[in-house]
Amino acid sequence: MPHDIEELRRQTPGTSHLLHFNNAGAALNPAAVTTAVLEHLQQEQRVGAYEAAAAANGAIEHFYTAFATHLNCRAEEIAWAENATHAWNTLLHAITFKPGDRIVTGQSEYASNYLSLLHLAQRCQVHIDVVPNNDTGSLCLEALEKALDGNVRLLALTHVPSQSGVVHPAAQAGAMARARGILYLLDACQSAGQLALDVETLGCDLLTGSGRKYLRGPRGTGFLYARRGALDSLHPAWIDMHAARFLDAQHYALREDARRFENWECFVAGKIGLAVAVDYANALGMQWIEARVRTLATRLRERLREVLNLTVHERGHDLCGIVTFSSGRETADALQQRLLARGINTSVVRVRNNPLDLGAQGLGDLNRASVHYYNTDAEIERFCEALRQY
Ligand SMILES: Cc1ncc(COP(=O)(O)O)c(C=O)c1O
Repeated sequence: MPHDIEELRRQTPGTSHLLHFNNAGAALNPAAVTTAVLEHLQQEQRVGAYEAAAAANGAIEHFYTAFATHLNCRAEEIAWAENATHAWNTLLHAITFKPGDRIVTGQSEYASNYLSLLHLAQRCQVHIDVVPNNDTGSLCLEALEKALDGNVRLLALTHVPSQSGVVHPAAQAGAMARARGILYLLDACQSAGQLALDVETLGCDLLTGSGRKYLRGPRGTGFLYARRGALDSLHPAWIDMHAARFLDAQHYALREDARRFENWECFVAGKIGLAVAVDYANALGMQWIEARVRTLATRLRERLREVLNLTVHERGHDLCGIVTFSSGRETADALQQRLLARGINTSVVRVRNNPLDLGAQGLGDLNRASVHYYNTDAEIERFCEALRQY
């Protein structure tokens, strides 16, 4: 596929009338993704849903091979999930914890994940340790090293947080976890589709993500990766006849692959559409996507710093397509609404959802602009101009 931005924008109908800087919320679908979803739904309408699925078996199975290429793993290590939260909880609750076990996480952990950890701590008497970020907002590796002792059952980290453009040192953390034999669950919800991910380099045993964000898939889609060697120790909290089979009236056998975490029923059109989105990213090349996203975001931060009364919040060196900022003149909500009225999509990250991170830094709600490779320098200029016109 050529890296012709204008052509990529033509293949992205939303770009013709929107300035979309909300890719960390949900990116714009390429036309090929929407078409694949609609065509499957039409086929369900025409021939019946089970019959349509049987005929589309190849496209459905391709979901697993597309992700295997994307993440550098085996197709049997991939499972479908309806969203990233579901994928992450499915894996968390498949781990056998004993009272006194410790779970180490980071200050930037995604809010829903952290709530689930608190819930688990109450129910299973496990302890949660939060490793702080350093003064650039990145996970402090020295503190992590100290935290990873013999009682740690799980290291659960978020690669790229929802509330900041920092890329946490997931691979360095993975090397520490692997050296100690600690299970490592990585939330790649915001990194998948904008950064080149390789589960071998990351050193994670488990990884989760969503389809609608930087991967540009349909809403209501997600995925998980579970390393083959870790699967035997993971027991899904619930199973069905897709995840397991009867041996006799008293016994059953779990599937040997990662599909033990799936249910029989799923959003088939969405699964096909997400596979098309992953193919699209694979064809463009994740190295190219990552480089372009980082370049655009760096430019956006530079230009935002020149806008009067605006503060950009990212401080570290390893930054991605998410840019957070706040205005000294408008609340985050008022600013977002003002931009929306001009056809500019952004979002707001809320301190109430991120007390460990934003709260600890004394920051209030922040505006978030998140760029993708189909955005342009001209859009960045238009965006800054809109901000100036207060
Ligand atoms: C870092 C991170 N993890 C997990 C999620 C949850 O994803 P989903 O809404 O698909 O469950 C999000 C959503 O914004 C996120 O930013």
